[in-house]
Amino acid sequence: MDYKIGVIKGDGIGPEIVTEAMKVMDAVGTKFGHKFNYTEVLMGACAIDAIGTPLPDETLEVCKNSDAVLFGAIGHPKYDNDPNAKVRPEQGLLKIRKELGLYANIRPVAYHSALEEFSPLKPERIEGADFVVVRELTGGIYFGDKGRNDDGTVAFDNCTYSIKEIERISVIGFETAMKRRKKLTLVDKANVLETSRLWRDTVKKMALNYPEVELDFLFVDNAAMQMILSPTQFDVILTENMFGDIISDEGSVIGGSIGLLPSASIGSTVGLYEPIHGSFPQGAGLNIANPMATILSAAMLLETSLDLVEEATAIRNAVAKAIDQKVATEDLNKVNPVGTDAVGDFIAAAI
Ligand code: IPM
Ligand code: MG
Repeated sequence: MDYKIGVIKGDGIGPEIVTEAMKVMDAVGTKFGHKFNYTEVLMGACAIDAIGTPLPDETLEVCKNSDAVLFGAIGHPKYDNDPNAKVRPEQGLLKIRKELGLYANIRPVAYHSALEEFSPLKPERIEGADFVVVRELTGGIYFGDKGRNDDGTVAFDNCTYSIKEIERISVIGFETAMKRRKKLTLVDKANVLETSRLWRDTVKKMALNYPEVELDFLFVDNAAMQMILSPTQFDVILTENMFGDIISDEGSVIGGSIGLLPSASIGSTVGLYEPIHGSFPQGAGLNIANPMATILSAAMLLETSLDLVEEATAIRNAVAKAIDQKVATEDLNKVNPVGTDAVGDFIAAAI
């Protein structure tokens, strides 16, 4: 079949890693008889440089009219260190999430025996860890009113959630748990935050519809500790936007490299697939970035948005083969690393 894929390479290492993911998708196309028609559009610092806005209208239009969107990363240090910058690359990402109604961010975390040595955690603690973070993506403190008082001496960021917003992401949490080991952990700060108490109430009520799912609750500070102490206790972690941002980066330590973790952002319309890592500007153009997280994001794209399950499995198996044979960039092969492009070549050929 023919598919329309919106492609946002973005900033920093984005263009290099997305190029490899496209190479791998094309290998899937050749093997399984599909054609992926890509339309490349701008977002992030590159869009600010070219057009003056981090999310041009054209980008949004193309994405809305695609079957799925593949995305690399955005961000540039010149904005990070300028608290007064009026436009920022990140605004593009937040806006596209909102505009496409991508309220659910799915971030799987898994232990890989071949990568044990790369995790700073003890093997006996992380062996067998396999969980999914289901992060709410279009609400909370990221999207609340924000501002300063008149003389700029006080700032605020408002955190708001409605029952409707909590319910729709919780459905994804419960459904994800039903397809896995049927355990759901709500991570919140209900001892302090009113929004968290609304989450707890709502999720408790919804649990009545999912009697097979074992539901438990953890405060986010404790959850951050438990994830490192005994990550095997988790199956599905359901949480709000900012807690999910933080604990998913923490989760990447279990897999051995942040360069391995893919994600799917889904919701009402077209899905967007991206690695959880950032744009790694220091590595841009050096052919050293690990493309595996983006390649695994392409696998999630095939499976989730296009229902191409066998094809997604072919990608995952090929990535596992590259890891086993140590065909990897320097984050996963200190002695004899290969380039970003060589990792993509190997995985494409393995397919
Ligand atoms: C992520 C990133 C983004 C976020 C940034 C780039 C806005 O950290 O996707 O996890 O905070 O959501
Ligand atoms: Mg993040």
